[in-house]
Amino acid sequence: MNRQDFEMLKENIIYFDNGATTLKPSIIMNDINDYYNKYTANSHRGSYNNSIIVDSKYEYTRCMVKELINADKEKEIIFTSGATDSLNKIIFGFFKYYLKKGDEVLLTKSEHASNILPWFELEKVIGIKIKYIDLDNNHYVQIDNVKKIITSKTKVISLAHITNVIGDIRPIKEITALAHQNDILVVADGAQSVPHMKVDVKDLDVDFLAFSAHKMCGPTGVGIIYGKYHLLEKMKPIIFGGGMNESFTYDGEATYQKVPYCFEAGTPNIAGVIAFSKVIEYLLAIGLDNIQKHEKELRDYLVNELKKNDDIIIYNENSDSGIITINHQKLEAASLADYLNNYDICVRTGSHCAKILNSEIGTDNTCRISLYFYNNKEEIDYFINIINRLV
Ligand code: ALA
Repeated sequence: MNRQDFEMLKENIIYFDNGATTLKPSIIMNDINDYYNKYTANSHRGSYNNSIIVDSKYEYTRCMVKELINADKEKEIIFTSGATDSLNKIIFGFFKYYLKKGDEVLLTKSEHASNILPWFELEKVIGIKIKYIDLDNNHYVQIDNVKKIITSKTKVISLAHITNVIGDIRPIKEITALAHQNDILVVADGAQSVPHMKVDVKDLDVDFLAFSAHKMCGPTGVGIIYGKYHLLEKMKPIIFGGGMNESFTYDGEATYQKVPYCFEAGTPNIAGVIAFSKVIEYLLAIGLDNIQKHEKELRDYLVNELKKNDDIIIYNENSDSGIITINHQKLEAASLADYLNNYDICVRTGSHCAKILNSEIGTDNTCRISLYFYNNKEEIDYFINIINRLV
């Protein structure tokens, strides 16, 4: 779908590393160029014409993000530098004050580093207890395993909506319903879900959601925090400086802007934020349901072809997303990626930042194929042909 929109696809590469970052459609270049060539100004600082243009385009993106995830209010959308920054701001700006010693946080062993390491820090700083929800034989979260692990001390469940190695789509809505019955808050890492499927924060009823623009055709350096407004009102800024304060005095008194501006200190990636609105319009025009359907069809086709090769180990045969994680019996993961690179096929190898998943899948190193809407069956046929040449 829409392959003509991507300059890089004219270079004859097979880009199967969309979980790491996606290619960018040409349409965003106009917005980026225009900002630098026609109306450069800082955001939320000036009152001259170009400042007004910048502010209105910047805030338009906030509106578009609200539409994309069906948030209640624009004020529930905070711009950050990426999903990692978003999760850190949620964990250190909200949960550091919300949690106390002994409170339990539920994670899984398939989380990305960004949804584990900040919690480890809170464990050191305030003595929270991290517990891992058991995964089933497919490495999925089953609601019964969540029920089993909840205690009266459980205060947060923080999970990827789609994991970045196994690619399983978590039952977030059911988890949230269960969590809320037990006064537990839910943080969803949407880095691998928001780009690939319809994500409706009202329907899922998540308390916080983090994701980034660059995994959904947008520029790097732009991320999002969604939070329910009453929770954002309790969140504290962790970055202080220009743009986020209302006033301060020589003796240390300071007042801060209201949500969301108190969380957006410093000059942001203005061109990136502005261009992100184009990307959202673009993806909505294609349709997130169509994107998800296309990726599922490609995944099923790829998995079916891979299963014909006895040397291939597939770690997530039954997942529903466009993430397929494999190894080759005769070539370790990094060498397999090098071999594929000789044929201009781009895949990611290693632990994919999910460094404690090894205890579940029995290896530190895998080769990940992650698809997006512009991938097609011909690319998969080429990939299968190349991989089948290995004997
Ligand atoms: N989080 C990105 C990935 O999974 C970088 O590849």
